[in-house]
Amino acid sequence: MSEKKSSPIVNNEEIERIIEQLPKIDYFWNKIQLYQWEGFWSTLTTVKAAMVFKATFKSKPNDVLLASSMKTGSTWLKAICVSIMQGNKEEEEDLLVKDNPHFHVPTIEAMNYYLKTPTHDLYTMPSPRLFHTHLPYRVLPDSIKNSDNCKIIYITRNPKDTIISMWHFFNNRKRLEDLFSLEEVVEYFCKGVHLYGPFFEHVLEYWEESKKKPQKILFLKYEDLKIDPKKEVAKIALFLGKSFGNEEDLEIVLNKCSLERLKNLEVNKSGSIFSYIHNSAYFRKGVVGDWKNHMTPEMEEQLDKITKLKLQGSGLEL
Ligand code: A3P
Repeated sequence: MSEKKSSPIVNNEEIERIIEQLPKIDYFWNKIQLYQWEGFWSTLTTVKAAMVFKATFKSKPNDVLLASSMKTGSTWLKAICVSIMQGNKEEEEDLLVKDNPHFHVPTIEAMNYYLKTPTHDLYTMPSPRLFHTHLPYRVLPDSIKNSDNCKIIYITRNPKDTIISMWHFFNNRKRLEDLFSLEEVVEYFCKGVHLYGPFFEHVLEYWEESKKKPQKILFLKYEDLKIDPKKEVAKIALFLGKSFGNEEDLEIVLNKCSLERLKNLEVNKSGSIFSYIHNSAYFRKGVVGDWKNHMTPEMEEQLDKITKLKLQGSGLEL
């Protein structure tokens, strides 16, 4: 495929034929239709976009792909990477003041290029291109996986806090009668049936790859960023080849990307990138251990058990 602005060449009939045969759930959380492709669950639109992305995307040497399952700190990571790559700018030039981090770092399977109404053109984005995906490692295009120069930064989070964040996010601005129950969200999460699920397989694939190729994949945890943000931001900057000369520059990035600041920026208080999600929905509490305020001891036990089982022998703790 050429690097010019043009539609990806894909065989739509072939895609439709594959989709017809995919496992499907009509009433996920009682409302949403999910399809399972290559072992992961998502909406039909996302699955189609992922198929086109996998079949057609050509990476460039200095591309940076941010990756995450849902509600694990993607917005924060996007903001940090935008700030690091933009360098120190005055308030009026700061990209984060102009638009939500999800605008500056588009999520590939939600991009116009792979959907009917794109907002960005991936092929005219200036290099180094910074973009994001929620897709699991296994369906990434070969040109990303096989390129030594295209880097990936993955962020994950404690599964119980991820679930609580997910539950709040999907209930945001819903009428009382439409709210999803936490019991239902936990139940489906444990079965691996949720957007971009199963969660543990998603995390473990990136984890294993990051161990094999630490120069290519940086693996981060939301909790580490909360505990020692300077250390983690320095690590990200170094990985991106933009290491900071002094602590003050690190602090500037952290302050620019703090939850309080981003939440209170006009663009995040009033705007909306996707018609169905208000920008404010991306910024909630950002508290480690918030699950304690919502989960029953039974839910805690169920999730601790599955986490232990899934992560056993991996060397990863969440
Ligand atoms: P909570 O719902 O626990 O508050 P994602 O960006 O992947 O959708 O993840 C959303 C979670 O990250 C939310 O967690 C949100 O509040 C938190 N978050 C968003 N921006 C943040 C920031 N700048 N600093 C810390 N946490 C942030």
